[in-house]
Amino acid sequence: MSDLKFPPDFSWGVATSAYQIEGAANEDGRGPSIWDTFSHTPGKTINGDTGDVACDHYHRYEQDVDVIAGLGVDAYRFSIAWPRVQPDGKGAWNEKGLAFYDKLVDRLLTKGIKPHATLYHWDLPQALQEQGGWGSRDTTDRFAEYADVMGRRLGDRVATICTHNEPWCTAYLGNHTGQFAPGFQDPKLAIQVAHHLLLSHGKALQAMRASGVKAPLGIVLNQSSVTPATNSQADLECAQRHYASFVRWYMDPIFLKSYPKAPGISIYPEVHENDFNVIAQPLDFLGINYYTRIWASAAVPPVPAPNVLGVNDMGWENHPQGLTELLTQINRDYDLPPIFITENGYAGADSLDQGQVHDVERITYVRTHLEALQKAMEAGVDVRGYFYWSLFDNYEWNSGYAKRFGLVHVDYDNQQRTLKDSAVWYRDLIRKGR
Ligand code: NOJ
Repeated sequence: MSDLKFPPDFSWGVATSAYQIEGAANEDGRGPSIWDTFSHTPGKTINGDTGDVACDHYHRYEQDVDVIAGLGVDAYRFSIAWPRVQPDGKGAWNEKGLAFYDKLVDRLLTKGIKPHATLYHWDLPQALQEQGGWGSRDTTDRFAEYADVMGRRLGDRVATICTHNEPWCTAYLGNHTGQFAPGFQDPKLAIQVAHHLLLSHGKALQAMRASGVKAPLGIVLNQSSVTPATNSQADLECAQRHYASFVRWYMDPIFLKSYPKAPGISIYPEVHENDFNVIAQPLDFLGINYYTRIWASAAVPPVPAPNVLGVNDMGWENHPQGLTELLTQINRDYDLPPIFITENGYAGADSLDQGQVHDVERITYVRTHLEALQKAMEAGVDVRGYFYWSLFDNYEWNSGYAKRFGLVHVDYDNQQRTLKDSAVWYRDLIRKGR
């Protein structure tokens, strides 16, 4: 561990998102989001779990900021629930919702923690979904307006503002496989949604910059390295296809003003004349969420990944080396701005044992990924910070409360927070690293 060395101004953080922790779904004027609708639809989530209460963070944010401060981190990444601040996604603003984020940001600042705000972490106002949601081009303008209002409200106090979190998930899981809200299974729609998300990102950056928002602006993309199972032509093409649809589909429009071509990719969105110029706004930073690699096998059934270092409770392979590979590759392929690792984390079958959680696998996961990150930085990748996902065990979308990613254990019966062994380890690491 002593071999982990990061620059003195490297930021250490933890991350969450609104729907996964806030609860208070029907309070103080919050409107419904697509995740309220989806999670309340029978059969869509494990155990029918919803985010109605989650970690009750809306009511407990003051103590929760104390928990964050207790970890010794200097940064906290959270998201703003659009339907809390603008219940219908257009028209009236909800002052009580806006005030909540004011108070959260101010409390973080009081404790010396830099707030990193995400504008869209998947909770689209339901009213906008009823008008076509991200399938409708009009939503891109609604989003730019929302971004502008939030940017003007918080931009003087937050450390960064990111437009979208993991647009691949919204587009693909929400509209192609239907595992996430709004739950459609329509490949063509999913591709159009991806385009609208990117376009809305560009419009949001334009709007916030036109308003003089001072905070650095960026986007958060989920990415993986891709390993072909063998050197066969079929597996190499399979790997190219995965890399194009997962990584390049979001990077190329932003940095190269185009969509990638790859074997097996045939659906492209409707793109208006100036769209790429709007999408390709310069970024002040790029957020990367990395959890695992993609193992590309064209065989039927596919050749399974070797899983040498095991898998987490989601079944995702532990593959820290992929983080080094991914970062060095995108650093070669694109002219990148500074990077934050905005998420990296481990889901474990954690349980309380006499007031403690001995999550040794999580510690190994974080340590090995930080080693991999350090290698990428030594190879010249400009990384400014690392956020562990997640601060708390929380609502893991369609997996409900069954999957635990937190450094801090949450007992959902009484909302008690307990630091896991990994939280103590992370705190010591940060202390030594400074
Ligand atoms: C990425 C998402 O941004 C977050 O919401 C989710 O909980 C984690 N990955 C873990 O799946």
